[in-house]
Amino acid sequence: MLEAFSDRDLIPLTRVELDITEPARVRDAIAELSPSAIINCAAFNDVDGAEDEVQAAFAVNAFGVRSLAFAAERTGATLFHFSTDFVFDGCTSKPYRESDRPSPKSIYAESKLLGEWFALSAPRAFVLRVESLFGCSRDWSRRRGTLDSLVARMEAGETVPVFTDRVVSPSRLSDVATATRHLLDTDAESGLYHCVNAGRATWREVAEEVARQLDLTPRLTPITVDQVTLRAERPVFCALDNAKLTEAGFEMPSWSDAVTQWLAAR
Ligand SMILES: NC(=O)c1ccc[n+]([C@@H]2O[C@H](COP(=O)([O-])OP(=O)(O)OC[C@H]3O[C@@H](n4cnc5c(N)ncnc54)[C@H](OP(=O)(O)O)[C@@H]3O)[C@@H](O)[C@H]2O)c1
Repeated sequence: MLEAFSDRDLIPLTRVELDITEPARVRDAIAELSPSAIINCAAFNDVDGAEDEVQAAFAVNAFGVRSLAFAAERTGATLFHFSTDFVFDGCTSKPYRESDRPSPKSIYAESKLLGEWFALSAPRAFVLRVESLFGCSRDWSRRRGTLDSLVARMEAGETVPVFTDRVVSPSRLSDVATATRHLLDTDAESGLYHCVNAGRATWREVAEEVARQLDLTPRLTPITVDQVTLRAERPVFCALDNAKLTEAGFEMPSWSDAVTQWLAAR
């Protein structure tokens, strides 16, 4: 995110510097900074933990966003907020469009959906649904996310379990940041956008493509979603259609091209 805005006066704030669950602090901080845009990357992202920590999940993912939306309204700032494919139930075989009806299946997903609605109550707001973020850090030792750890484990020669039925549209972080910048700089219509790399694949297909690009012979153990018991239910089919973002003038690269660029940039 920082690179896409390197020519702008960007003020990154940590949780210690601005806890978004404290409405008065959010109000005062935004009033004092008077930014032209607020980019909310804060989230309660422990999908399974949210089932037990309902209040904490809603405090960050929903009511924290409401405070930011109020602050954006008061100061005239454009609000950017990130949401998730998990707002859908995954009971489809066609990539979801923004107009498709959400049907969250977990506390995390419910809290994120409410956060979307609060964000969109600001006069100028963009909610970007992302999924399976990868390439999260230029510092390779801080790799995170399913795809990042998949690459690390394959390169270490480990046997990696991969879902053969979960369908995803991975999102490279730098592409999401560039799309965010595009929406800020243009007169794009505010609203909800699916901001994922183009295309879709099962995790096994992703793993096989990454192995091909790295010229590795992968050791993959195929598994299906119903073989794994997790505290929170996740959608099986999570692919998102990003045509609306393309219509707004920003074309996300295909996920395999995004992987190529990311691997080359390491
Ligand atoms: N990662 C994915 O694959 C994925 C998929 C779908 C959607 N998303 C969405 O994309 C966005 C970014 O996700 P991410 O994976 O980059 O997130 P992340 O790495 O988990 O970072 C979340 C950040 O939020 C901060 N935070 C938590 N509570 C806060 C609070 N009360 N006030 C201020 N900051 C707080 C955390 O600070 P601490 O480090 O101090 O805890 C952390 O820096 C989120 O909206 C997420 O829901 C991500």
